[in-house]
Amino acid sequence: MSNLYDVVERVAISREEIAAKVAELGAKITGDYRGKELILVCVLKGAVVFFSDLLRHIDLPVTVDTFAASSYGNGSETSGEVVVEKDLSMDIRGKHVLIVEDIIDSGYTMRKTVDMFSSRNPASVKICALLDKPSRRKIDIKGDYIAFTVGNEFLAGYGLDYAQLYRNMPDICVLKESVYR
Ligand code: IMP
Ligand code: MG
Repeated sequence: MSNLYDVVERVAISREEIAAKVAELGAKITGDYRGKELILVCVLKGAVVFFSDLLRHIDLPVTVDTFAASSYGNGSETSGEVVVEKDLSMDIRGKHVLIVEDIIDSGYTMRKTVDMFSSRNPASVKICALLDKPSRRKIDIKGDYIAFTVGNEFLAGYGLDYAQLYRNMPDICVLKESVYR
C-alpha cells in the first residue's frame, strides 16, 4: 500500500508555519480593506486550499468569486501564452479586487489576470500569493501580499500540484526525484 507522503523528499513549509502566516496575512488584509467593498478572487485550482483558510481570517463582509487560467508551454517551462478558462461571474466595476493565487512563478498568469481585471474599471486590483519565486520571473509583476518567498525548487501540497496530484498534502513539500521520471 502506498501513502500520500511516500513521494515526499522533505517538508519545505509545514502546516503550522502556513497556518501562522495565513492568520497574519488575514489580519493585515482586514486592516487594509476596512470600509471598502472587497471581492476576493480564488484562482483555480491551485489556490483553493490557501483561499479557504485565508478567507476565514478576513474579518470583513467580503464577496468571493473564482477565476481560472492556464499558461501553455512544454513541461515546467511556460510559453507565456495565458488562456482564460473560467472568467469571473461578478461585475468588478468600482469594487476592490484581491486576487488570491498559489504561486507567482514566471509572472505571466498574474500579469495577464491583473491587466484583464484592470480594464474593467475596478476601484483597485491587488495580488495575494501563497508563494513567490522571484528568481524565476520573466515579466514584471509584484505581489502585494506574499506568504512565503521561495527559491526555484518545485513545490507541491497545500493546493499546489504536480501532474494534478498532491494538492491534498497539508504541508508544502519537495518531492522525490523519482516522482518526475
Ligand atoms: P506563472 O509562471 O507565474 O504564470 O505561474 C503559473 C502557474 O504555474 C502557477 O499558478 C502554478 O499553478 C504553476 N507553478 C509554478 N511553480 C510551481 C510549483 O513549484 N509547484 C506547483 N505549481 C507551480
Ligand atoms: Mg495557478
